[in-house]
Amino acid sequence: MHLDLTDRVVVVTGAARGIGRTIAARFHAEGCRVVALDLAFDDATPDDVDRVVCNVADPDSVRAAVVTVVERHGTIDVLVNNAGINVEGTVAELEWEAWRRCMDVNLGGAFLMSQAVAPVMQAAGRGRIINAASFAAIVPSVGSAAYAASKSAVVAFTRVLASELGPWDITVNAYAPGMVPTAMNGFATMPAEAQDRLLDTLSLRRWETPDDVADLLVFVASDAAGYITGTLLDVSGGKLATQIPARAHGR
Ligand SMILES: NC(=O)c1ccc[n+]([C@@H]2O[C@H](COP(=O)([O-])OP(=O)(O)OC[C@H]3O[C@@H](n4cnc5c(N)ncnc54)[C@H](O)[C@@H]3O)[C@@H](O)[C@H]2O)c1
Repeated sequence: MHLDLTDRVVVVTGAARGIGRTIAARFHAEGCRVVALDLAFDDATPDDVDRVVCNVADPDSVRAAVVTVVERHGTIDVLVNNAGINVEGTVAELEWEAWRRCMDVNLGGAFLMSQAVAPVMQAAGRGRIINAASFAAIVPSVGSAAYAASKSAVVAFTRVLASELGPWDITVNAYAPGMVPTAMNGFATMPAEAQDRLLDTLSLRRWETPDDVADLLVFVASDAAGYITGTLLDVSGGKLATQIPARAHGR
């Protein structure tokens, strides 16, 4: 299948590091004009993608960033709402401020960015909005009330927005990565037994790579995915498939 994304303008939030950085680099490699949005950038951010400093949880910052992108590139074809934070703590422990921060970035960020970008896509009569959810939206962990609730809400938000933007042929989807070792979770630096316990919950029993996610997003952004909207795309390596997948690995 030939997925031609040449010259599409792609905005990726939270693209200074982690999965977002790989997503941005991958769309760039596909011939897109990529704009990376983040709170700050360091030397590791590829300099062949355009960069705009933006706090997705701040309405003024989001509005200004979208104006800048449209001034520089004329339009926005694809928005990837990747920016996210993890906040851990049982309900008994969680501070209201931490709960609010998690909701503001993970859910509020997707809302503010989508609200600012949608008119640009409506004017063009096409577009793709792709929202980072998580397997935690479906199967949360103890101590993840804020994060899991924010990601579940992203899935519901995605469904509603998909229907609201359907008349303009704009698709809106969410995706659920599984376990990608990044600075957010520190999976790769955990003790071996802790890593084994987590890997034992995956049908494929290997860590996910940022490229596993980027592969899906390139497809979703392409014309080939034009009839997929309002759904949660599971790219979790089987995290959501069965209860004890380790048995199939002889463990
Ligand atoms: N890593 C995983 O295993 C995993 C699993 C499921 C879902 N996800 C989701 O994928 C996305 C990326 O995760 P990651 O592991 O690469 O995280 P990460 O912490 O490595 O990167 C997140 C990026 O978002 C940016 N960011 C945070 N708050 C922001 C804000 N207010 N405005 C703009 N940018 C902001 C950070 O600066 C950072 O560059 C997140 O939404 C996360 O919830 C990750």
